[in-house]
Amino acid sequence: MSLPALYVSRLLPPAVMSVLTERFRLVAQPGPLPPEKQSLRKGLEEAEAAICTLTEQIDREALHAAPRLRVIANYAVGYNNIDLDAAKDRGIVVTNTPDVLTEATADMAWALLLATARRIPEGHGLVQQGAWTGWEPTQLLGADVYEKTLGIVGMGRIGNAVARRAAGFRMPIVYCNRTAPAPSDTAPSWRHLSLQKVLSESDFISLHVPLTPSTRHLIGAAELRLMRPTAFLINTSRGPAIDEAALVDALRERRLAGAGLDVYEQEPALHPGLRSLAQVVTLPHLGSATLSARVRMGMVCIENIRAVLEERPAPNRVN
Ligand code: GLV
Ligand code: GLV
Repeated sequence: MSLPALYVSRLLPPAVMSVLTERFRLVAQPGPLPPEKQSLRKGLEEAEAAICTLTEQIDREALHAAPRLRVIANYAVGYNNIDLDAAKDRGIVVTNTPDVLTEATADMAWALLLATARRIPEGHGLVQQGAWTGWEPTQLLGADVYEKTLGIVGMGRIGNAVARRAAGFRMPIVYCNRTAPAPSDTAPSWRHLSLQKVLSESDFISLHVPLTPSTRHLIGAAELRLMRPTAFLINTSRGPAIDEAALVDALRERRLAGAGLDVYEQEPALHPGLRSLAQVVTLPHLGSATLSARVRMGMVCIENIRAVLEERPAPNRVN
């Protein structure tokens, strides 16, 4: 029996690659870097199933040039990189990897929050550069986290996991969500407010929205003006949810205390203004980057592909 033809756009963790090479015929050898447009096109053209990552833009043209393709398993929870309508028109199932990366991403949102509030990268730099001359009463003073108000924008799975972690810090939770009540479990003490109120009442604001036309620049100049000058903005969702130019202005004018960013408007490019500000902590899109999350994401992709190829409903279909 011949194995189904699979296109994998990037090299995934070895535990995932070994299952893929056992169960599928790979139409191309994946590498560590994003594929050139032409090789992405060619891979999709030859495959029955594909695993793609968030760096691959899969547009209508690419989908129409893929006659055998039945399923694209996006190796991510977000799927803004794929034209879902075009996939649907072509009868191609698109799936994502929710749940398995929820806790890893929530941990990272907290890592960024704490690193930004307590100036961890600055402290690390001081010690590493040999510039530390000893303990000082006023050295690198940061902001308190304990008992401050945490605002969650987007109370989905990840927003919920971030809010749950705040209990240990005795932080009141305020949140907003596209749909009310929120889709996942919320604690009775968490307050559902408008976006505007969440922005004006929070000391820390963490974004957990998917990128859609209505969340692009969700946090722009007007929204940043609602935030407290002592507040911090944390983003582990998608870069374009924030208007970066407006964020840079707000930080420069000290209308905001700091920002912890894992994602950017034009990845991997950084807005030049974000490079020179000490109150910004920047990570290279590492939200789900733990070995176990990345292996489980691969297994979820495989499960979804098998379902489609065996004519069963895909557990994580998004279109
Ligand atoms: C990562 O950003 C994801 O959407 O999984
Ligand atoms: C969004 O998809 C989430 O899991 O919060």
